[in-house]
Amino acid sequence: MSSPFLWGVASSAFQIEGALDEDGRGPSVWDVFSERPGAVRDGHSPALACDHYHRWAEDVELLDRLGVNAYRFSLAWPRVVPTGRGAVNGAGLDFYDHLVDSLLARGIAPVPTLFHWDLPLALEEAGGWSERDTAHAFAEYAAAAADRLGDRVDRWITLNEPLVHTTYGHALGVHAPGRILEVPEVMRVAHHMLLAHGLAAGELRSRGLEVLLTNNYSPVSPATGSEADTAAAHAYDTLHNRLFTDPVLTGAYPDLSAFGVAEVPGVREGDLKAVAGSADGLGINYYNPTVATAPDEGSGLPFGFGEVAGAPVTAFGWPVVPEGLGRTIDLLRGRHGDALPPLYVTENGCSYEDRVSPGGRIADPERIAYLEGHVAEVEAARERGADVRGYFVWTLTDNFEWAEGYHQRFGLVHVDRATQARTPKDSFSWYRDLVAARTASADA
Ligand code: NOJ
Repeated sequence: MSSPFLWGVASSAFQIEGALDEDGRGPSVWDVFSERPGAVRDGHSPALACDHYHRWAEDVELLDRLGVNAYRFSLAWPRVVPTGRGAVNGAGLDFYDHLVDSLLARGIAPVPTLFHWDLPLALEEAGGWSERDTAHAFAEYAAAAADRLGDRVDRWITLNEPLVHTTYGHALGVHAPGRILEVPEVMRVAHHMLLAHGLAAGELRSRGLEVLLTNNYSPVSPATGSEADTAAAHAYDTLHNRLFTDPVLTGAYPDLSAFGVAEVPGVREGDLKAVAGSADGLGINYYNPTVATAPDEGSGLPFGFGEVAGAPVTAFGWPVVPEGLGRTIDLLRGRHGDALPPLYVTENGCSYEDRVSPGGRIADPERIAYLEGHVAEVEAARERGADVRGYFVWTLTDNFEWAEGYHQRFGLVHVDRATQARTPKDSFSWYRDLVAARTASADA
């Protein structure tokens, strides 16, 4: 029997857990970055987040009510290996062990991500992703996690959106660790992350486990047909849709000459071999398409950004273009053909201001429309022959949206910041009904 299509929701440790000092968790780069004045909008603190570390059982009940058959969450590396490398913290693993058992007891497949941006601070202090050793430390951590949970969890995501962690964290300085490096050094960071994925994939596969890599994808169009805009779109596509995908599927980096990089620094013999073919599935995080323009003078980048014309925008200002998800899937299929492994939409969702009615009901018709449009795109792509095996809404509960703090609410469930009370929004019921209908027709 083939496994059922996964209908799920996704979250990440740092965005929901809180309890940053509990049960032996070590500090992460985000713990300290978020304390930098100005780093997080209005100085919002991640210390409590959704208090999921204490309220996880309630959150699993919500998942049960939602009826999903899969839940994507992340393990906090600094909970499992507090100093990044070396001693494993059993108490940290216990937390995920209980979570996994509780999910399985409800027929929900756990889909853990090993790295969702919360690098142990000790590793950053030793050079972080600029150091090759960090890749080895990641593989050791992956092995420890798999040794504990691999008897019950068969599908693992290594990294979440390594491009965002690389660029926002190491080029723009707007995410942890807040570094601003020159382009070649940014590429070194990228390479070490890819190597980390490849080495961890080896560990997971040697234990008979399935390996996914999750990237964010954005189909890109030039603002006009001009040569300069077209070149900009090409450069952006290379960075966004190829840098962390081509090496995994083809064993080679794309041409990075638009970035002034002839050779990616830090690549040693055998590295690309460890990375090639290292994914049994690709996770797609899709939020919106991109329009590229020729760069502003002196920007130092080979592209600029134009406006996606005619599209409504979310509270985050992101254009709503469901067809972009179908385009993304087609782009990957067209580009990689038979080398493309099965696809999973590991994140898709939107942030909107809540409208709480006097009775406490939270109407979010825009989110329902957003999700409806995107699910339809996934289903249409499957009909065109795409091997898409899952769809995960970002996210279950409104949570800590990185540099935006708690300003962006992406949840199907509203979280009252003062009381932590969880209130399912209208989109929660809508998704519950959709999942029920789809899983019933799959069973029929
Ligand atoms: C991608 C990231 O993986 C997740 O952490 C973030 O909250 C969502 N996108 C929304 O920005």
